[in-house]
Amino acid sequence: MIDLRSDTVTKPTAAMRQAMAEADVGDDVIDVDPTVDRLQSLTAEILGKEAAIFMPSGTMTNQVAVRIHCKPGDELLCEAGCHIFHYEQGAFAQLSGIVARTLDGDSGVLRPEQFIGQIRPENEHLVRTRLVCLENTHNRGAGRIQPYPDVEAICQWAHGHHLRCHLDGARLFNAVAASGTEAADWAQHFDTVSVCFSKGLGAPVGSALAGSAELIQEARRHRKLFGGGMRQAGIIAAGALHALQYHRDRLHEDHANAQIIAEAVRRGEGLTLRPDTVDTNIVIFEVDPALGTAGQFAAALKQHGVWMLGVGGALVRAVTHLDVSHRDAVAAASIIPQVASGLAQGTIELPPDEPTY
Ligand SMILES: Cc1ncc(COP(=O)(O)O)c(C=O)c1O
Repeated sequence: MIDLRSDTVTKPTAAMRQAMAEADVGDDVIDVDPTVDRLQSLTAEILGKEAAIFMPSGTMTNQVAVRIHCKPGDELLCEAGCHIFHYEQGAFAQLSGIVARTLDGDSGVLRPEQFIGQIRPENEHLVRTRLVCLENTHNRGAGRIQPYPDVEAICQWAHGHHLRCHLDGARLFNAVAASGTEAADWAQHFDTVSVCFSKGLGAPVGSALAGSAELIQEARRHRKLFGGGMRQAGIIAAGALHALQYHRDRLHEDHANAQIIAEAVRRGEGLTLRPDTVDTNIVIFEVDPALGTAGQFAAALKQHGVWMLGVGGALVRAVTHLDVSHRDAVAAASIIPQVASGLAQGTIELPPDEPTY
């Protein structure tokens, strides 16, 4: 089975497992775990920030970031399809008493002019606009890279109006690999940056939040409050450290494989890429209703050895990653158009629907 559901499905490599087995550990809640410490220092260095803090998930790094930038009754501005708004159960509201105001992006990309006029005036009837969150690359935007000059302009505007800026950089290293712009250059515009080790980098667990020493000290308090203090976390941090050291340089392979999948989708009867170009490792396409629903198309592909995810409406997502080789991508690329024409011509029976995400 060629598993293209997500870049989170990877299994640790033998070298990564060895690094984890041999990790030097301590109690990171009482004082320090040396491997966590090394991971945090390297992450901060790569992102050009004073400090970083390790957490179990990207959801937690995002929510801790939102929490340290805002107070109850504050408002954040974000793109309508971003992970913080769309896929985290409205945790900013549930956990921190914050509201969100969404702006519609073009495949997740917001333009600076969309922010003009979005700050609420100081008035006791209104929430206080406090934070801008951007996502790079954008998951539901099919791995779109935010244009660098726009990121710079949006953050300059936000800081000029005394707002804070947070970057959900779960896949920032994909943006780095595809754009050639260094992580620290992207990160310099934001007060906090969250990165994930368990996506394209292939670690089993973990994310980090980076920022000033003062903000990260505050983040440590809220990580504890949200239940994310971990003791001998060096075991998992070692996998993340290995990923950070050795797996960033290979992300361009995933991007090349995604182009192979995208080309196959272009050839597929009744399939349309959304958007029509692919920047990084995520390919999203629309399935013509004549072929069945997105869930049925994904189920038919699975019967033929290619596993993708329906992601709402008629959309299906394929993500390339560490455990998908060039050969797998080529094999998947020959199956995708075959299944599409089989469904269109009725030579493949329509399978039962599958849930979408
Ligand atoms: C852009 C983005 N941010 C944050 C997350 C959350 O990461 P986690 O699944 O580790 O909570 C994801 C997960 O897919 C993501 O795609």
